[in-house]
Amino acid sequence: MPDQPDSSKIDFRKIVHEAEAAVAGASDPAALDHLHTAYLGRKGSLTRALRSVGAQPVEERARLGEAGNAAKGALEAIFADQRRTLTPVEQRPAVDITLPGTAYELGHRHPVSLVMEELLEIFTSMGFTIADGPEIEDDWHNFEALNMGPDHAARDMQDTFYVAGTERPDGTFAHLPRTHTSGIQIRAMQETDPPVRLVAPGRVYRNETEDATHSAVFQQLEGLMIDEGTTFSDLKGVLLMMAKRLLGEDIKLRFRPSFFPYTEPSAEVDMSSPRVRDGAWIELGGSGMVHPNLLRRVGWDAGKYRGFAFGIGPDRIAMLKYGLGDLRQFYRPDFRILEQF
Ligand code: FA5
Repeated sequence: MPDQPDSSKIDFRKIVHEAEAAVAGASDPAALDHLHTAYLGRKGSLTRALRSVGAQPVEERARLGEAGNAAKGALEAIFADQRRTLTPVEQRPAVDITLPGTAYELGHRHPVSLVMEELLEIFTSMGFTIADGPEIEDDWHNFEALNMGPDHAARDMQDTFYVAGTERPDGTFAHLPRTHTSGIQIRAMQETDPPVRLVAPGRVYRNETEDATHSAVFQQLEGLMIDEGTTFSDLKGVLLMMAKRLLGEDIKLRFRPSFFPYTEPSAEVDMSSPRVRDGAWIELGGSGMVHPNLLRRVGWDAGKYRGFAFGIGPDRIAMLKYGLGDLRQFYRPDFRILEQF
């Protein structure tokens, strides 16, 4: 076995403590220079310790490297401070207080977050509350309570990732990163009594082949409104009002018959703006009237109450709002694009 220096013997903190005491005792610039060479020179003790990190076991290197760099920064500051102290006041560089200060660049919100915040503001102004649910969901809330039993074909549309080690005898997994925010409908109904009017934002996951309009990780905003006389036209009215406020008065919505096991009837909602892609229809989300089974499942009176639900895609809305042709660009660390919003 090659002779490896023992990583536990590299003690950066000790070197810094020793140097600190020695530097404080340096009473003239020559003594300080001497100490600088002793610690930070080519053969200085810190330089040698830093160099020996490379010979440590791989799993130790990152930690030691970080500690070493921090120690070097600390030592440089200690020397700079003492050098200033040893310089007679009249020889210290003057500070020009008329110079402009250093401007720090402020970060800003991500375009999809901007759209999500605007959506929440619009819905809360219409009296919707904001609900939340876990990103790691159980099979019952994500599928089964939404009328998708273990063998239901609609599960395939949301092929996804699963939590290893939670596989059950029927081949399903007890836990999974949620594939949509619809599980929050059930969670919210379990926690309250009717009527309910809520929206639920969140990140969702699917095993997608990514393309210009599909990402494997994306955002959804779920909506749920249940009361005694809620109708499909309430659903249309609410979504149209949202779209106009978010994207302009000239936006148009189109409802296409569709199928979701948890709504009946169900509709896909598309949007079209004359200012984007020459008015082409772009899918906004899925929607429909809440299936009575869901109400029964949480013990609500399905004869008395009914309501609508929707799940829309803020990523796609952000594409439309900001005229971006490929939503994958939202998830790449390319600041030339992200800084434009
Ligand atoms: C659903 O997820 C249903 N849960 C929606 C729903 C809720 C229906 C309530 C009825 C009642 P869908 O898979 O179509 O439906 O997704 C909804 C929206 O999410 C899409 O219209 C789209 O805007 C967005 N979306 C879906 N997949 C992706 C993806 N891979 N990348 C980005 N956005 C996506």
